Amino acid sequence: MKNFITAEKITRGELEDIYTIADDIKRDKNKYRTALSGYVIATLFYEPSTRTRLSFESSIQRLGAAVISTENARENASAKKGESLEDTIRIVQGYSDMIILRHFDVHSAERALSVAKVPIINAGSGGGEHPTQGLLDIYTIREYRGKVDGTSIAVMGDLKYGRTAHSMLKLISLYDGITVYGFSVKGLELPDYYKDFLAAKKVKYIECKAFTDIPTDVNFIYQTRVQTERIEDADLKIEEMILNKENFARFSDSTYLLHPLPRVDKIASDLDDDKRSIYFNQAHNGIPTRMALIYYIFNDFYNLGVIHADKRTK
Ligand code: NCD
Repeated sequence: MKNFITAEKITRGELEDIYTIADDIKRDKNKYRTALSGYVIATLFYEPSTRTRLSFESSIQRLGAAVISTENARENASAKKGESLEDTIRIVQGYSDMIILRHFDVHSAERALSVAKVPIINAGSGGGEHPTQGLLDIYTIREYRGKVDGTSIAVMGDLKYGRTAHSMLKLISLYDGITVYGFSVKGLELPDYYKDFLAAKKVKYIECKAFTDIPTDVNFIYQTRVQTERIEDADLKIEEMILNKENFARFSDSTYLLHPLPRVDKIASDLDDDKRSIYFNQAHNGIPTRMALIYYIFNDFYNLGVIHADKRTK
């Protein structure tokens, strides 16, 4: 695997390889401290970020590589002067061995890839995809359930523009026996493209008309923020989608609550102490999974020969 542009192209074998490395990193971080020393990785962010950029930069440094970074590239970099994304990539690839890109255009990662001579990782492409968030989401599901096959998950909130939900759904569809419940307000439903994708992958998708239609024994609830910055009609009735101690009480003891964060006001803080709330651990899984992904791509792209066939699962 030489890039990570979309959650649509990765195979289950590649995903499991990355998780095997992530498990190893979790067991012994020190082992990887100098793994990529001498390399330089660029983080090029045109949209705001806390978790994604900082966990990528922390991962890069924990692998011994150096990081060069443009935060708020839309305002602070040459884009402001009218430089195209393609030209910026042509330049930055001369300064780095990998580019991690967050951009407001849904096609940005493909556009970057079309001119890039170094590996590209998509760290969020407009209202499209966020494949590395999906990577850590599924890793967290695997960690808490011990397996991903047979998982039931309810996705709620902004299913139209919620790029994390899109990538998570694409990745979970690599597993068998998956059931997805979708719950959102009118106007923010899951686009047909994703419904068709899930159907083609034999994932059962059930649209819920009301919050109470979500079964109380569902394995995971994946709550998301309404992407107000991408929505013109700001007058959406979203009160019904806020989770709190009271409405979460109807779910079973083994229903875990996920959120890519920021939660803004979609999960009340009275749920933070609930042992089923795992969104902070989920965010922290950004480190082993992103370290593993970078390491895995470097191994393949630069022929490092550090991941051997016996480590592969498929
Ligand atoms: C998300 C994003 O930027 O897409 N955050 C993240 O990366 N963890 C979710 C969001 O902004 O709502």
